[in-house]
Amino acid sequence: MSGELGERLGVSVYVVGGFVRDLLLGIDNLDVDLVVEGDGIAFARALAKENGGKLKAHERFGTAVVHLPDGFKLDVATARTEYYEYPTALPTVEQSSMKKDLYRRDFTINTLAVALRPRQFGQLIDFYGGQRDLKERLIRVLHSLSFVEDPTRVFRAIRFELRFNFQLSKETLALIKGAVKMELFHRLSGQRLLDELRLLFSERTPRHAVRRLSELDLLRFIHPKLTWSNRLDRRLIEVEAALDWYKLSCLDRPISGWLVYAMALAEAMPDQAVHDMLKRFPFADAERTALNEARFLTQPACRTLSRRAPPKPSETVRVLTGLSEECLVFLLAQSLTDSAKRQLSLFLTTYRNVKPALTGKELNALGLKPGPLYRTILARLTEARLDGEVKSEAEERALVK
Ligand code: CTP
Repeated sequence: MSGELGERLGVSVYVVGGFVRDLLLGIDNLDVDLVVEGDGIAFARALAKENGGKLKAHERFGTAVVHLPDGFKLDVATARTEYYEYPTALPTVEQSSMKKDLYRRDFTINTLAVALRPRQFGQLIDFYGGQRDLKERLIRVLHSLSFVEDPTRVFRAIRFELRFNFQLSKETLALIKGAVKMELFHRLSGQRLLDELRLLFSERTPRHAVRRLSELDLLRFIHPKLTWSNRLDRRLIEVEAALDWYKLSCLDRPISGWLVYAMALAEAMPDQAVHDMLKRFPFADAERTALNEARFLTQPACRTLSRRAPPKPSETVRVLTGLSEECLVFLLAQSLTDSAKRQLSLFLTTYRNVKPALTGKELNALGLKPGPLYRTILARLTEARLDGEVKSEAEERALVK
């Protein structure tokens, strides 16, 4: 539909970047990036109107996002036309603006485009050897200033390398080493670097990402005191296992896996370094709180759970309630006794869902006046349930009386 609409508006439309790369790799990707040769915003506006979608336009950048009613999201960009080389020869002009647009991109594998215009529908456009590099499984920059223009691309390179199990091309690796030597990353804002690290540690193998960052001497740009060690590696293996278990056992609860890895990195750093890191990176409030919980509450919680006389379930609940999911998984990744591990996994899967059979309604029917007392009674009943003191509603009623 985009191609036909483009035809009617007299503009060429292409699907570009990650979507095409993943299509050729046989990987699902629902993020569609369109490039329009012509007025991208006018195109996006018409697209939204014809399909009952919502439009968000950024006039300054010539970009727009269209949310279609079926949940589909399309990013629309305008191929800059100020570079027209041969204003009179239309096909060359079109190619030229597209070629220049794609030249701004990071790696050859991200420069592939597919034409959507009816007459050229499905035609693959490959100016920079993207198909060859996909076949040879190589991450390759388009030009030698790519990392100078945007140092976050170094982290993107590692992300793609690990995600697809590709390799950095020889010259790309040399350029990364150059960027490290020139310390280009100090120029990056905390926000940009954090965004990139968040994405990197949201991939499937953050442990390998840490290893790779260390090999390329990049960990020091997170903090100079952050270094790779066998101990850190072991903790990352434990985090990986804990997250795998969590995802299988607590299906309905979303979790930011990357944050658990960040907790493991913070654990490997001296206090002052963590303090600096929290200052440099603009973590969201909840993330910051979770990182601090992991620093200050993990050890006391471990001690309680690992006590020789194991805590009652109600005590386990008291210690763990209120901690973020990420901190709980980080706890699970600590070297705990078997009994502590059991308590923690029971908390995650069972204890925290335990509720008494009686509710406020029944307490009212029992003649108790509504008020703060209800809360206390229900909390006490929950404890009694957890610790096996009561097993049925009748027993709960008896306890209340
Ligand atoms: N891009 C770039 N330099 C950056 C970020 C992005 O050149 N620092 C380009 C890439 O060529 C990419 C496109 O912008 O194809 C869109 O960016 P993004 O959506 O982040 O990339 P994807 O390749 O779609 O990555 P992912 O699969 O992780 O979404």
